[in-house]
Amino acid sequence: MAFFRSGLLWAIMFLTIYGVWAATSTSDTIIKPCNDSLDRNFCISSLSKSPGALQADLAQLSIIAVHLCIEEVKPVYDFIVHLRERNPNVSGLTDCVELLEDTKDELHDSESKLRRLSDANFNEYVADVMTCLSAGETNQDTCVTGLQETHASQTLLSAVKAKTDYLSLLIGDALVVVNKIADQGHI
Ligand SMILES: *[C@@H]1O[C@H](CO)[C@@H](O)[C@H](O)[C@H]1NC(C)=O
Ligand SMILES: *[C@@H]1O[C@H](CO)[C@@H](O)[C@H](O)[C@H]1NC(C)=O
Repeated sequence: MAFFRSGLLWAIMFLTIYGVWAATSTSDTIIKPCNDSLDRNFCISSLSKSPGALQADLAQLSIIAVHLCIEEVKPVYDFIVHLRERNPNVSGLTDCVELLEDTKDELHDSESKLRRLSDANFNEYVADVMTCLSAGETNQDTCVTGLQETHASQTLLSAVKAKTDYLSLLIGDALVVVNKIADQGHI
């Protein structure tokens, strides 16, 4: 009985430790760039949760990070198109739709260049991707500033800002990964 009880205790302890390990499991490849992120913990947890990220090298991680942004940009874009249809008098929303279209293109362009990254095109492609992601990160701020200038309602402004800030945070995290690839100097 005593043995059974202590066996059970061990099992509970093991499962608890395993649970904590599984929840915080990450890799140095993820931590290193995320150390430069605006929100380190968000960066580590969002990247670590992505399929394949724990085993990924830096180049593979950059594709995973950009892919997360691509999954996020579509619902944000659809949301803003829908808002514009319901608020035709808020002129800033038309600019926002165009800016989000730019972000979408910049993200797809980045993903395709990262997938084709090689020693031969390294400097050119890494520089292009950094430019695209920086632009993609700022487009959302431009959208929000534009809405403020056209005196959009506070409700509308906060709704847009919540979604676009989240997207920009993800893009910023993709950028810190690409910056590490640039530091590394090769793939
Ligand atoms: C990340 O930053 C922490 C604390 O700032 C530091 O201890 C750690 O060594 C860094 N990790 C990597 C992989 O650079
Ligand atoms: C747009 O119209 C709504 C009501 O239809 C109004 O509440 C809002 O203030 C208007 N916004 C602008 C920027 O004119």
